[in-house]
Amino acid sequence: MVNFPSLVLLSILSFTRMALANSACVAFDISWNLLAFGFNGKDYNAGTQDTWTSGNAQDITTSGRPPFNGANTTCYLSQYTNAIYVLGADSSNPSSIYIYDATAKSWSTQSVTTGGFDPTNFDAILDHDTNVFYAYSKQDIYALDMGLLKAANSTPLPWTDVQHPDFATSDYQPVMALAQNHIHFLNVPGLSNGSARIFVIHFSYLQPAPQSYGNFPNTYGQATSFFQESGVQQEFAFIPSDGSATYVINVETNTTQTLKGPSLTDARATYFASNTALIQLSSSGNVSYLLYDPTSASANANAAWNVVSKLPVAVSASSSSSGAGSSKTSSGSGTSATGKASGSGNGASDIRVGLVTIAVATMATLLAMAIGY
Ligand SMILES: *[C@@H]1O[C@H](CO)[C@@H](O)[C@H](O)[C@H]1NC(C)=O
Ligand SMILES: *[C@@H]1O[C@H](CO)[C@@H](O)[C@H](O)[C@H]1NC(C)=O
Ligand SMILES: *[C@@H]1O[C@H](CO)[C@@H](O)[C@H](O)[C@H]1NC(C)=O
Ligand SMILES: *[C@@H]1O[C@H](CO)[C@@H](O)[C@H](O)[C@H]1NC(C)=O
Repeated sequence: MVNFPSLVLLSILSFTRMALANSACVAFDISWNLLAFGFNGKDYNAGTQDTWTSGNAQDITTSGRPPFNGANTTCYLSQYTNAIYVLGADSSNPSSIYIYDATAKSWSTQSVTTGGFDPTNFDAILDHDTNVFYAYSKQDIYALDMGLLKAANSTPLPWTDVQHPDFATSDYQPVMALAQNHIHFLNVPGLSNGSARIFVIHFSYLQPAPQSYGNFPNTYGQATSFFQESGVQQEFAFIPSDGSATYVINVETNTTQTLKGPSLTDARATYFASNTALIQLSSSGNVSYLLYDPTSASANANAAWNVVSKLPVAVSASSSSSGAGSSKTSSGSGTSATGKASGSGNGASDIRVGLVTIAVATMATLLAMAIGY
């Protein structure tokens, strides 16, 4: 006999596991060690890229860390300070910025004043040279100056409204990419494929004319910059939500390389790059990488995505006791979902949560009727 309530429960539990993986995040320190935060209640240092496919990552969990229970956690590397800034990692304090000093291996919590900035709905970059966050939230560009902090200051830092962009913002799903101290706004309504609107940080100036960089679709997706050993980033990766390719845009040569799309197609995945690797953290908590050679387009064209087997899969610790056999189908369908993403670049879950919940409820009702439960 079909045990109807446990079917529903399993579906909901395994869905919850999937959703919770977006509470984790990955980042690099300035020695290009891959750091993984909020993985089943722990944080890890997975070392440099030559070591990712053997052994176990070092547990670096320590006091003062955030609970990593937010819906859309994002991490940023401050290269001058070797600090990781973590946003959205504490659902009770959604605006707090947690700072991990990767040299001292210690945490502190920076409070902020949000003004009009919405900490639950934004996309952001951390500017390399100024160490200032720029975010798009509520149709405006905001900034928050981190100074050179690697430990929190007792004075709250303000998010300040910089300007309202001149493009159509009412339905804009932001895609922001940093290179050469310029913010590249992708997915801007009306732009040609391969183009970006450029915000010049040092002059707080949104260039009116789009810049063409070659060929990538003008669509929603995720972007992250490749670091240099030192100095400003010159390239960024753009992965459209359909995962069909990985585009690497070089803002010096105005060209785009088209590389393999990630093995896991996942509109809710997040990405982070070092100088020579691009990492995907899927919404099912799996971590994969693509090696990147800034000097060899032919090597990049042949590069394949691989699993960082040194890291565990970031499922939620609290649900790890739920039906072990149930997650495969659910997380598989979750990660292959290519439904149109909506909302900010930090993961557009809520509409899909709603749809999936309705779908689960509908199936459950039909099933209950069919079996006369
Ligand atoms: C997570 O991101 C989605 C999509 O941007 C947004 O609707 C939701 O409010 C966010 N939730 C939190 C708690 O940040
Ligand atoms: C833009 O790129 C998309 C995806 O490659 C393609 O379907 C579309 O036709 C292109 N649009 C134009 C105007 O070329
Ligand atoms: C890239 O485009 C900008 C703006 O059009 C231009 O100033 C620059 O010379 C171009 N770079 C190259 C290498 O073509
Ligand atoms: C994530 O990794 C685990 C462990 O390697 C694997 O069993 C699972 O199939 C992966 N999930 C997806 C969606 O590939």
